Amino acid sequence: MTEHTPPLVFPADFVWGTATAAYQIEGAATEDGRTPSIWDTFSRTPGKVRNGDTGDVATDHYHRYPDDIALMAELGLPAYRFSLAWPRIRPGGSGPANKAGLDFYDRLVDELLAHGIAPVATLYHWDLPQELEDDGGWTDRATADRFAEYAALAAGRLGDRVATWTTLNEPWCSAFLGYGSGVHAPGRSDPAAALTAHHHLLLAHGLAVGALRAELPGTARVSLTLNLAAVRPLTDVPADREAARRIDGLANRIFLDPVFHGRYPADVLADTAHVTDWSFVRDGDLAEISRPLDSLGINYYTPTVVAADEPGGRTLRQDGHGGGERSAWPADDGIRFLPAEGERTAMGWPVDADGLYELLTRLRDELPGLPLLVTENGAAYDDYSDPAGAVHDPERIAYLHAHLTAVHRAIADGAPVRGYFLWSLLDNFEWAYGYGKRFGIVHVDFASQRRTPKDSARWYADVVRTGALPSTPPGTPAEC
Ligand code: FCB
Repeated sequence: MTEHTPPLVFPADFVWGTATAAYQIEGAATEDGRTPSIWDTFSRTPGKVRNGDTGDVATDHYHRYPDDIALMAELGLPAYRFSLAWPRIRPGGSGPANKAGLDFYDRLVDELLAHGIAPVATLYHWDLPQELEDDGGWTDRATADRFAEYAALAAGRLGDRVATWTTLNEPWCSAFLGYGSGVHAPGRSDPAAALTAHHHLLLAHGLAVGALRAELPGTARVSLTLNLAAVRPLTDVPADREAARRIDGLANRIFLDPVFHGRYPADVLADTAHVTDWSFVRDGDLAEISRPLDSLGINYYTPTVVAADEPGGRTLRQDGHGGGERSAWPADDGIRFLPAEGERTAMGWPVDADGLYELLTRLRDELPGLPLLVTENGAAYDDYSDPAGAVHDPERIAYLHAHLTAVHRAIADGAPVRGYFLWSLLDNFEWAYGYGKRFGIVHVDFASQRRTPKDSARWYADVVRTGALPSTPPGTPAEC
């Protein structure tokens, strides 16, 4: 007798989509008044990005957006999370808005809406105008003010049609990879600068929430996207649990406490006291930072396993995007980062969907009632187009199946998860890895710019169309 396990049905109003970011897909780096961002400078610095790749052309989405949107519509994807390029909208980071830059996003949004796709806009996915970095970047408090002004310009032009706004994408990466390990732009390696940047990013977020609320209709939703870490101690011994507490502080509570409770965690202040005295925090900042949000975005790829360093042992650095000689963490002396056991993606990131469930249910408990969105989740594999022109990516389908099952389980257990945005629509410029890592459900031949939906795109389209996930991934033998 064949037994069929029923599919996992998602709530009828669950929002399904894909995600991208401006620098990773747009190209057109010098067109229509756009000025360089820190990623233009960084990618041109020898040795910073594999193969010397830059975002100059990327997937040429700036010119091909109508085709890309038509493809999304053909796949039946109802929502699209993209980012606005600050140096397109406000070249140089200050001064007047650039009409041509705003016009581009105007066309993009109209095209999305014409295809029935809901636009979800992120204001900052890492492309700080270079001029602001020259003045100190995120270590300079004034950058937060410039960001809020830019937010107001963008919302003033697009706010009548874009209902969901996100201030920052993964400020952990901007602060700790940009100013800590230096594997991301602007490539600085200074733990005190990383913490200063962290605070100014949060201040920028808070000021931008205020600016957005002033510009947007009352129905608009304002959010923040964090790459919170599912931190696990290697063993239950006290030293490993202490390592996990410290990294949980620097990965999670250093964001959640100020944003949702208006305070920095006392243990994090103590753990970092040898790095900085935190005098960059001024009266009133935490009230600004903790302005109410309508939802929280979570990006999740892999868990973080930590242990106390063995005496004389070598500390492995696991910074996600590219490792590096210096640690991203401002205070991780005596802590080892270990790769979790088991299967890995092409990034070397272990596949572990339980981490996503752990994060979503933790947020259910710690931030009761706050709607959650998975704003990024996906995997890189070494995809290639076969002689027939097809791209078979069963590993990605299995990854997505496992993670969507985790989302479904979290919802069933009461986590208010309202949507899922798959990273990514297209293969694109994967930061320090250049074009070497393919995260798309649509394959891009970077020489011809030809787009080919991978098997995972068709599979995801089916999930979205039916609002349900087969209880087993494709290729699993039927139960007998
Ligand atoms: C996230 C970034 C996104 C992409 C994925 C793989 O940290 O937000 O731009 O690089 O990782």
